[in-house]
Amino acid sequence: MERKAFIKNCGFACLGGTLVASLLESCGGTKMIAGTIDHSDLVVPVSSFQSHNGSFSRYVVIQHEKLKYPVCVYRFGEKEYTALLMRCTHQGAELQVFGARLQCPAHGSEFNDKGVVQNGPADTNLRTFPVTIQHNQLYISLK
Ligand code: FES
Repeated sequence: MERKAFIKNCGFACLGGTLVASLLESCGGTKMIAGTIDHSDLVVPVSSFQSHNGSFSRYVVIQHEKLKYPVCVYRFGEKEYTALLMRCTHQGAELQVFGARLQCPAHGSEFNDKGVVQNGPADTNLRTFPVTIQHNQLYISLK
């Protein structure tokens, strides 16, 4: 392949990849963000919940390389948040979020947006973390 054709093909491949990523982000209801760790807190900006048109997402899923499981944070109001470890309390599978529900793909357990078991076989609520707000940042205490 000639250099010019190679560059042209790479350009289209990159453009296609970017387009697919944008479509997936806009179609999927789940907003995934990377948090930072500050001492024993997982930190994300409050603005993570805001969308382009100024409305707020009901929840965001926060990941960090040091966390084995993501943390789902639900927003109930300006100062009311619930942070849930996305680890099924039955046998430890990673949960999936669907609106106000977290479902386990392994055996079907379901939890609500406060982490309370709605359907078994899990019989224990999800682990929750205290959330505080300082300087427009959410601090999720992982202690
Ligand atoms: S591991 Fe989640 S229901 Fe079994």
